[in-house]
Amino acid sequence: MLDHAQNRPDLPFEIARRRTFAIISHPDAGKTTLTEKFLLFGGAIQMAGQVRAKGEARRTRSDFMQMEKDRGISVSASAMSFDFKTYRFNLVDTPGHSDFSEDTYRTLTAVDAAVMVIDGAKGVESQTQKLFEVCRLRDLPILTFCNKMDRESRDTFDIIDEIQENLAIDITPASWPIGMGREFVGCYDMLNDRLELMDRADRNKVAASIEINGLDDPKLDQHLPAPLVAKLREEVEMARELLPGLDRQAVLEGHMSPIWFGSAINSFGVKELMEGIAAYGPQPQPQSAEPRQIAPEEDKVAGFVFKVQANMDPKHRDRVAFLRMASGHFKRGMKLTHVRSKKPMTVTNPVLFLASDRELADEAWAGDIIGIPNHGQLRIGDTLTEGEALRVTGIPSFAPELLQTARAGDPLKSKHLEKALMQFAEEGAAKVFKPVFGSGFIVGVVGALQFEVLASRIELEYGLPVRFEPSQFTSARWAQGDRVALDAFIKANQAHIAHDNDGDVVYLTRLQWDIDRIERDFPDINLTATKEMM
Ligand code: G4P
Repeated sequence: MLDHAQNRPDLPFEIARRRTFAIISHPDAGKTTLTEKFLLFGGAIQMAGQVRAKGEARRTRSDFMQMEKDRGISVSASAMSFDFKTYRFNLVDTPGHSDFSEDTYRTLTAVDAAVMVIDGAKGVESQTQKLFEVCRLRDLPILTFCNKMDRESRDTFDIIDEIQENLAIDITPASWPIGMGREFVGCYDMLNDRLELMDRADRNKVAASIEINGLDDPKLDQHLPAPLVAKLREEVEMARELLPGLDRQAVLEGHMSPIWFGSAINSFGVKELMEGIAAYGPQPQPQSAEPRQIAPEEDKVAGFVFKVQANMDPKHRDRVAFLRMASGHFKRGMKLTHVRSKKPMTVTNPVLFLASDRELADEAWAGDIIGIPNHGQLRIGDTLTEGEALRVTGIPSFAPELLQTARAGDPLKSKHLEKALMQFAEEGAAKVFKPVFGSGFIVGVVGALQFEVLASRIELEYGLPVRFEPSQFTSARWAQGDRVALDAFIKANQAHIAHDNDGDVVYLTRLQWDIDRIERDFPDINLTATKEMM
């Protein structure tokens, strides 16, 4: 039995119990630690420390390269599934570095909710703010975890005010911290009237839970020092007066976020947060698509690719496409239709990502993420169905902000370089433009670190030394228009024209003035900074 009715009462049990979410945070706020505790309480790992090793590796650049090198599909996997009580949690990893914001954006199209982790001493930091804005574009429900309460942190009201003001969202306290820093003893669970006490001696132990009968219950005085009880009573009373109460609908619509306080490293507050995700996090939601929306409870299977990871095993040149199941009950060996090419595709070896291992997925339900190994047929934005020509929408490709020319270290290898670049373009790791005039390729990325990662991967995975050099162009725009208008536009601007890996026309320039001029001189041409993946 699920303990909480949700907003889609007709969902089959298997779908209703799924919670698919991502964690967003500023580096260092505690995402890795929290992930590890989720997996620990979800029974997916036996020991704390397994995720940490990876988290640390992620921090330095050289280690990051190393991680790219030995991309084992362990915890650096893009999706992890584990059970919590009667629920199945699918946690989708968002790349931590801001250079990968496009990837992050797409990842957020594959989840139904996000957990926002903030550091209690630092409050809302730049990366949190950016990621939050992305969630807001989709009205994604957000649950907040204020971490590191075992350290000196800000006043609770200040933290809540800051989030409300900076992010323009209502915050409702799900728990209230008692004491702070060295004095921090635990939280008052405002939703369930419980006292949760932290065990500093054992970092992996779930807190002791004491049922309380309202704030006046003398049990509070038995368990807490008098000054802390007095402060707690005063603050909770004020909070109830000043802050909005929990409104489940507002949470589901992304206008309100419940906040839990805790300390991930001490496993404190994590169980309550998980219960919160189960109770208030949305079930699998309908997916926008053309010509019609896809509802999770539909019998027929549909899903879409939001990420492609190539060469996970460099020896085999395989690629794994990550598919978010939008509807139905998938079974291994099912024959699906690859809508873009209209070709059938039998999915014989789908993978389910269980924390430290990958396993063959015998079945999957709407909400789940499965990996499909393939040889390049599957691209970001692709839809798979049981036959109907549905196309999932809303997975954008952004115009890159940095452009460089890629040249093969060995000029005789430029065909090989082209192949490697095209693969990365399909994976979504970079934009690759082939200019109409001149040789070489122009590679576009969103963050500078991506050039280094690309160069390292091209060398490692294809054995090709590559040089990235400054390009004469700094901006790229996709050009759209009818055939006649587009031909006239291309003819008049040949030195600026290139094609992307889908063959679409791209206008390259270094001047905003040029873009304005095109808009004036070629009114039938539409220059855009995003392109819908299809
Ligand atoms: P990230 O993935 O968001 O970047 O953060 P991560 O979990 O790696 O945590 C960043 C640092 O914060 C780590 O310390 C981690 O131990 C610490 N941390 C996480 N949760 C808590 C908490 O609840 N309380 C306190 N006091 N610290 C916390 P580090 O020094 O970088 O690593 P380590 O030496 O502890 O391993």
